[in-house]
Amino acid sequence: MSDTAKLEYQGRIYELPIVEGTEGEKAIDISELRNQSGLITLDPGYVNTGSCTSAITFVDGENGILRYRGIPVEELAEHATFKETAYLLINGRLPNRSELTRFSVLLNDHSLVHEDMREFFSNFPRASHPMGILSSMVNTLRSFYPELQTMEEEINITVTRLLSKVRTLAAMSYKISRGHRVVYPRPDLAYCANFLNMMFDSPVRPYEIDQDVVHALRLFWVLHADHEQNCSTSAVRLVGSARVNLYAAISSGIAALWGPLHGGANQAVIEMLEEIEEKGGDVKPFVKRAKDRNDPFRLMGFGHRIYKAYDPRARIMKKICDTLLEKLHIRDPLLEIAKDLEQTVLEDDWFVEHRLYPNVDFYSGIVLRAIGIPTNMFTVMFAIGRLPGWIAQWKESLDDPNWKLGRPRQIYIGPSLTKFVPLEER
Ligand code: CMC
Repeated sequence: MSDTAKLEYQGRIYELPIVEGTEGEKAIDISELRNQSGLITLDPGYVNTGSCTSAITFVDGENGILRYRGIPVEELAEHATFKETAYLLINGRLPNRSELTRFSVLLNDHSLVHEDMREFFSNFPRASHPMGILSSMVNTLRSFYPELQTMEEEINITVTRLLSKVRTLAAMSYKISRGHRVVYPRPDLAYCANFLNMMFDSPVRPYEIDQDVVHALRLFWVLHADHEQNCSTSAVRLVGSARVNLYAAISSGIAALWGPLHGGANQAVIEMLEEIEEKGGDVKPFVKRAKDRNDPFRLMGFGHRIYKAYDPRARIMKKICDTLLEKLHIRDPLLEIAKDLEQTVLEDDWFVEHRLYPNVDFYSGIVLRAIGIPTNMFTVMFAIGRLPGWIAQWKESLDDPNWKLGRPRQIYIGPSLTKFVPLEER
């Protein structure tokens, strides 16, 4: 007999099935709970709630493990290109040589964006945040690239379009924000190098592609490619569950990622390190503030809902940060402050008790700075990296036989039946 959990309420016992994942994680299946008992569950922030079963990414936060389709992220970071990682996440397995070639050809074919889309860019106020622009532009793509005939075509073509065009749109937004000429994608360049060239090439200073920089960017994107049911991915799944088009679902993911508690943390980390530097470089007052319960200040780049051990992505990011800065002969004072801050936090009893460790965003900003990415574009870089994960999760939800429109319930705590009072009597 399969495993069950028993819930006793008002003298009745409800048997709830236990669902077990391939890595031994267990969940109580409450899908019939309300039907049988009239009860719902309440779980702010969905801290204890599994919203789906998924075969894409496995995270073990207690032991610092992250795998895409079963492959440890460390192995992918060492051997896989970002393109292969994207293919793996979306299609469930690594591509063979001919599949990879076909994928590359498609990415190249779809890399241009409609020229009319440039008009939109010029109408955004100059101070607009690139994440707001990107989210709007991705939604706008649907108007330029309407629905295709078959679902298979829709999935394959729209997915490739998005993977390729989001990268182009991101570089375009940077160029236009600087008042510079847009640089078109080049068919002879691979995914990461092509992006760097679109960002930094200029008629007066041709961009020289440095393989160390390409390597760092590849790693950054591979490490960000998926992270199971985080805030933005859940947004993509929830919005997607209304059966909106993929562009709209991804646009909502980008909006969610923008938040400083999520993807926006990479920008917030650099701003925090700059503030520490401006105030003389002493990290201790900041650590003290972070521990003060009456102060809302948090150390950006520390802590994670799932990781209660060192984030495995942060470990790789720290290494690449050191290597890249050394190879490029950059001495970034923010790196010294970051290392000092990390050391201080790791030795602090309060942080140890709270199991707060550096997360992926802590060192990534310093890597992006070294590459030449402006701070307000950091979260856009995260979004490009996370795109394959969002797409894979959306695609998986389409194929899920247990799929349902996402619609959480609530416990109402407002006034009970209240009579309307006409304006003259108020
Ligand atoms: N600095 C100081 N205290 C912290 C921090 C932090 N960065 N993170 C958590 N805490 C404390 C918090 O004050 C609370 O303390 P107490 O129990 O004494 O009240 C305790 O730790 C638990 O915090 P929580 O907010 O309930 O934990 P959570 O799991 O909901 O938080 C988090 C996860 C990422 C929102 C949080 O750690 C945070 O705000 N970190 C800073 C922002 C950041 O770096 N975000 C990037 C996350 S990684 C990239 C991504 O996946 O998006």
